[in-house]
Amino acid sequence: MKRRLNRKGKVLVLSLSLVVLISSVFIVKGLTKKDENHILESTDTYDLKIDYPNIENKKIMNKINEYIDYQKENFLNNVKEVEDIEQPKYDFNLSVNVNDYKDITHVYMLTFAYTGGAHYTRDDTSLYYDNKTKEFVDLKYFFKDEESFKKLSSIAYYYVLKLEDKKFDELWVKKGTDPTIDNYRHFNFKDEGLEILFPPYQVASWADGEIKITIPYEEINDLLKEEYRGISKETEVINIIPETRDLSKFQDKKLIAFTFDDGPSETNTNYLLDNLDKYDAKVTFFVLGSRVENNKETIKRAYLEGNDIGSHTYNHRNLNLLSDTALMEELKKSNDAIKEAIGKTPTLLRPPYGNLTYHGKELANMNIVLWNVDPLDWKYKDKNRVANEIIEHAHDGAIVLVHDIYKSSVEGALLAMEELQKQGYAFVTITEMAKLRGITLDTETSYFSMKK
Ligand code: NI
Repeated sequence: MKRRLNRKGKVLVLSLSLVVLISSVFIVKGLTKKDENHILESTDTYDLKIDYPNIENKKIMNKINEYIDYQKENFLNNVKEVEDIEQPKYDFNLSVNVNDYKDITHVYMLTFAYTGGAHYTRDDTSLYYDNKTKEFVDLKYFFKDEESFKKLSSIAYYYVLKLEDKKFDELWVKKGTDPTIDNYRHFNFKDEGLEILFPPYQVASWADGEIKITIPYEEINDLLKEEYRGISKETEVINIIPETRDLSKFQDKKLIAFTFDDGPSETNTNYLLDNLDKYDAKVTFFVLGSRVENNKETIKRAYLEGNDIGSHTYNHRNLNLLSDTALMEELKKSNDAIKEAIGKTPTLLRPPYGNLTYHGKELANMNIVLWNVDPLDWKYKDKNRVANEIIEHAHDGAIVLVHDIYKSSVEGALLAMEELQKQGYAFVTITEMAKLRGITLDTETSYFSMKK
């Protein structure tokens, strides 16, 4: 439909505008919605349609009215600007949807406008209002802290990349899911989980349209403030409360953190656990997710007895060689396996070969623990050599790397403890060492040691 309009024609058209306003009483669950308004305007140049509910809350209603006025005025100005040019009929469609979740009212306003050109324009605007505090809030508000919000962002990134029907550009998705409030303007707490909407162009091309993901509550309940947690689909909830110990006795001691990679191993890990008490030792295990499933009892025991459980990824691949999706999968699968065994998602990560780029660190969002004493136990498989290497390089704050899949490594580590205990060392987990050293672990640093 094309026509040519001159200024006279336009005035005439406007005076003939047909305005229809239908207001009907509409009962909805929740007290926030009263009734719904439908506005239709049709002229020779454009069609306009606006649907919005009346909200009892004045603060919210004002925001909705402001939005409608602004979008409508914007559209009509565009119509005016191009009145003399031959165009297909312009179109304006604005809808407002309101939902309640707990004490939060969510208003989602969506405008499509066509005023010439290759495609329509689209505006998504969301408002979240806390009926308790009487304030507008954003997504961060629902999360425990900044760290939790960051974690959500890497989960969201992973969920977008995992959408099956699309090929994504990882950098684009990364940028669109970075932990900024602007990237998370549209979300919805649903029965199945937290739904996040990314409008067209945020994480993929315009042609791909809007991208929607739903993150189940079992993934994010730990990150959400308690009052906003949803019902997790997990059937079995494991609640292990590990042994803790009084750290004050180690205050003036030289500290060493023994870390055991590549396990668990039923025989060797249990042998180690059987002997740790002799040296009043707790250690850290960086386990492989792929080995956890068959060694659940062992890892449970290690955790229960007060040792740290960290992740060494699922399949021990060099993370620097993986795509973002594959990298996230290596981390997520391992974290899930560990959580299933001990009821807690690990926060410590030792990347295989110590390899992780800055970008990888950002994605992982875990505390990266490396080492500074390496007896090359896997190479020599000789308990005396392992012990001597550790003893020779031992120092306060050291992080020792050994592997509990080898008998010689476990025996060597125990021999080293025997000697180092005489030298006044105490053997602590990474978490204990950080506490004793007053270090709050962050996700940007790689920890090689924790010296005084
Ligand atoms: Ni390893």
